[in-house]
This record gives sequence, C-alpha cells and structure tokens, in this order.
Amino acid sequence: MLLHTIAEVREQIKEWKKEGLTIGLVPTMGALHNGHKSLIDKSVAKCDRTVVSVFVNPIQFCPGEDLDKYPRTLDTDEKLCSDAGVDIVFAPSPNEMYGEGHILSNDFLTYVIPPFFYTDKLCGKSRVGHFDGVCTVVNKLFNIVQPDFAFFGKKDMQQLIILKKMVKDLNIPVEIIPCPIVREDSGLALSSRNKYLSENGKKEALVLSRILLNIKSCYNKGITDVKALSETSYSFLNENHSLEYLEFRDKDTLEEKSIADDDTIVFIALRVENVRLIDNIELKG
Ligand code: PAF
Repeated sequence: MLLHTIAEVREQIKEWKKEGLTIGLVPTMGALHNGHKSLIDKSVAKCDRTVVSVFVNPIQFCPGEDLDKYPRTLDTDEKLCSDAGVDIVFAPSPNEMYGEGHILSNDFLTYVIPPFFYTDKLCGKSRVGHFDGVCTVVNKLFNIVQPDFAFFGKKDMQQLIILKKMVKDLNIPVEIIPCPIVREDSGLALSSRNKYLSENGKKEALVLSRILLNIKSCYNKGITDVKALSETSYSFLNENHSLEYLEFRDKDTLEEKSIADDDTIVFIALRVENVRLIDNIELKG
C-alpha cells in the first residue's frame, strides 16, 4: 500500500497496534537496490508488519550536494517493496514532512542534534549539519510509524552509530537492527550513488574495498600499529582517486585509535569521477 500522508500512516499503525502486531521500519531515500532489499527482507522475516519510508530528506543535504539530482524512482521502489512483502510504502512530500513551504532553517524547525563529538569527524567533517538532518528525520519517522524494530545498513556506519546513540540518549522505544553491507561480486559496496559512476569509474571504485580488505588481512597477520596499517594502502591509490579520509575508530564511541584492536572499525571515503563514496570494515572476526 502506497501512502503519502502522515495521517493515513497513523491510522493504519493504530489498527496494527490494537491487534498487537510488531512493526518494522526500513527508512530509505528510495532508489532501492539489493542493499535496501536485504534490510526489507530482514524486517519482513522478523516483524508482523513492515513499513518502508521513501523520502529524499532535504535537510540532510548540504549546499552544493546532489539533492536535486538524487535518483527518484518511486514506481520501481514500490514494485520492489510489494514483491518483498512490504505492507506500507510511506512516500511523503517535503511539505508533508516539514510543513507548507517547508522552511528548513534551524530558526523555524525543531532539530534533533547529536553530540558534536560524533559529528565533527569522518563524513560529518565535510558534510556539516548532515547528521542533524538525519537524526531529525529519523526521529520524525519513529514518531509517525512507532516501530518496534528499525533496520539500518552498516554501509553508513557513522550514521548507524549516531542513531544508536540518539535512541539510547532519548529513550526512544525502538530496537535498532544493524544489517551487513551488501556488495557486488567485485567487492563494491552497493549504494544509490553508484548510479553516477561510469563503467570505468565502477572499476576504479573497487579501491575502497581493496584497501579495507588489505588492512584487515594485515591486522589478522598481527600488525596493529595504525600508522603502519594506513601506509599499506597508499600503493592502491592512483590519480583517479581523491582520498578524503582513512581512519581507525572505536565501534561505539568513534574515538580515534592509534593501535587497532577488535573494537576498531576502519572508515574510508574517497572520490572517483567526483562521486563521493564511503565504505568501512570491522576488524573483528
Ligand atoms: O541512510 C539513508 O538512506 C538516510 O540517511 C535515512 C536514514 C533514510 C534518513 O533520511
């Protein structure tokens, strides 16, 4: 069922709650791919009812980012969802979510602002305000859908860590279910932004997973010094890659590590054909 208004969703949720059914939410910005499909499958398997939100959230895009050209494919998204057994696809307009004329500045909208310590690093460093926009919209979706479980991919690991912190700090009654990164056979992590890459760009983009897998294999051989681990990566880079960051951080607090351990996640962001790509790997296991 495709719904566009908050009122319609609330009405349906009220019925389900009355029947004592569990509700899973998969928040997305659409342009659904197999990565999203894996989140949806997990929700459908675990919960009595599944809601997928499809909303390109304007307040999480920074000036100059790809808000206008972000792929919007609602028809195919809806088909993927109904084939997968989703009960509601919630696709609101920006006006529906933020009000007529949607005045989006901090002066006019109540924002949920995660701690600066979590947002001043990694993607937050170049995407100032991005995680405020993410936390605000996800909080709104939680209030609208009142899910028991919400499914997020580990591909956006900083987002996942920040959302877990938000849920804990604000006592939101939802369990966040982290889901594994889905990759192409080549190793490339699935992302809606891969659509911007040429065939050659997709080949160049393999550098992210190669660097991460190489670091993990060095760690498994006993190298723990972060400087030494980072240095193993430089030979993978060429003039087609513009590295934004390669950082080793704690899986819960995002504190920087100088010695890697099993609680370490390695985060990477780089540009290929001016498309910003991110990936990460957990060193444990
Ligand atoms: O990960 C995303 O697609 C978005 O950041 C989210 C969680 C749907 C919020 O708009």
